[in-house]
Amino acid sequence: MWWQDAVVYQVYPRSFQDSDGDGVGDLPGIEQRLDHLAWLGVDALWLSPVYPSPMHDFGYDVADYEGIDPLFGSLEDFDSLVAAARERGLRVLMDLVPCHSSIEHPWFREHPDWYIWRAEPNNWLSAFGGSAWSPLDGRWYLHSFYPEQPDLDWRNPEVVGAMQEALRFWIDRGVAGYRVDAIDRLLKDPELRDDPPSTGEPFGLPLSDAEKRLALTRSRNAPDTGAALAKMREAVDDHLLVGEVYLPSARWQPYLQHLDAAFAFELLHADWDAAVLRRAIEATTRRPGAAWVLSNHDFGRLVTRFGAENARSAALMLLTLPGPAFLYQGDEIGLGDGPGGERQFDRAGRDRFRHPMQWDASPAGGFTTGEPWLPAVDAERINVEAQRDDPRSTLSMVRDLLTLRRVLGNELELIDAAPGVLSYRRGEHAVAINTSSGKRPAPLDGDVVLETSPGALRGRELAAHSGAVTMGLRGSPKG
Ligand code: NOJ
Repeated sequence: MWWQDAVVYQVYPRSFQDSDGDGVGDLPGIEQRLDHLAWLGVDALWLSPVYPSPMHDFGYDVADYEGIDPLFGSLEDFDSLVAAARERGLRVLMDLVPCHSSIEHPWFREHPDWYIWRAEPNNWLSAFGGSAWSPLDGRWYLHSFYPEQPDLDWRNPEVVGAMQEALRFWIDRGVAGYRVDAIDRLLKDPELRDDPPSTGEPFGLPLSDAEKRLALTRSRNAPDTGAALAKMREAVDDHLLVGEVYLPSARWQPYLQHLDAAFAFELLHADWDAAVLRRAIEATTRRPGAAWVLSNHDFGRLVTRFGAENARSAALMLLTLPGPAFLYQGDEIGLGDGPGGERQFDRAGRDRFRHPMQWDASPAGGFTTGEPWLPAVDAERINVEAQRDDPRSTLSMVRDLLTLRRVLGNELELIDAAPGVLSYRRGEHAVAINTSSGKRPAPLDGDVVLETSPGALRGRELAAHSGAVTMGLRGSPKG
């Protein structure tokens, strides 16, 4: 299974590389930059949606599951990208958005019965705030996200058939699998009953205040979800399916009966504190199936999430845990979030996390020859070109990590360490990360093979906000 320890690089197509000067990234642009990904050493790239879309949610509102939005190029461009990726040993993953289409998908007009309707709204909430119901022609349709994203009814066999066809369409064009969007929302209570009030038991992942008041047992994650997932699996055969399951890992069944892996949201949302990180890793690795991710187009970049001083340690952790890891474009150069709206799920709220990739020190960072749809964030200082040949750069460290992770043992053993230090063993290698702002003793011994900065590990002491990997562990037979 090629993906077992793969690093998947998330490309946000709008913001990776523009080839035609319109200020928005596109498929030929991605193809132009494939050498960067091959040089870095990732195994695959995941494209956030490139389907035709009115872009109310930048492509997560799909108007045709079997096409490419002209903004991003054409099907020929897509085929060319997949072929060029293959030549470089890179696989391509698509983003499947099965729970909802765009309100502008012809299905919504032609097959209203493929969607979910009610005479009156119930108390279900949209993930983006407010009611999950909007009125249309005297009744109400369900949208678990924006009103422009009506939920599809996966209990309707015609919907399942149409989605299976779409899944096969891209597999036939050479994709290696899918990241599957918002899959915990696939099936809801068939009677559309209200979510009951919260019992006070924590959900286990961050929720809005309004969501916290409800038990969220009927608006998502219905008991027959597995049947629909089985249909997805049937369509893709043994290609990769990684689920965006917004549930704590203890509730990953039935998702992992049918999908290969699920994003580990407990770690993504953990504070940068050794003890908290350890608890999240322990909880998530109790069963197989975690796909690690610390940053993306919804939650922001390592530098901003964990602080510039911790971003390299965060990359070190992300890339030394066992199992597939998802690396968001820009994190390899320590790009931070840029300006954008303040409220995360307002229209512009997530722009902060989506500023273009920076390739060189020019004003638009080499992303476009035109006016970029969002400005560069300090491109003069933070860009690929400046870091490529600097062995001390974040980019060099990430590249070294990608080489190193190929020789790490399969197992993960968490090691007791001083407060503020997260430590674990991967076979013959040991990792320690100091999340605190003071020096800390580290349970490492043996040769240093990687540090977040030169001299981070002196003797047996880790500098503040730093991490290291050694061959051997103090007190171990190998150490
Ligand atoms: C999760 C995606 O990552 C996000 O960007 C999108 O808005 C929602 N799902 C709805 O599709």
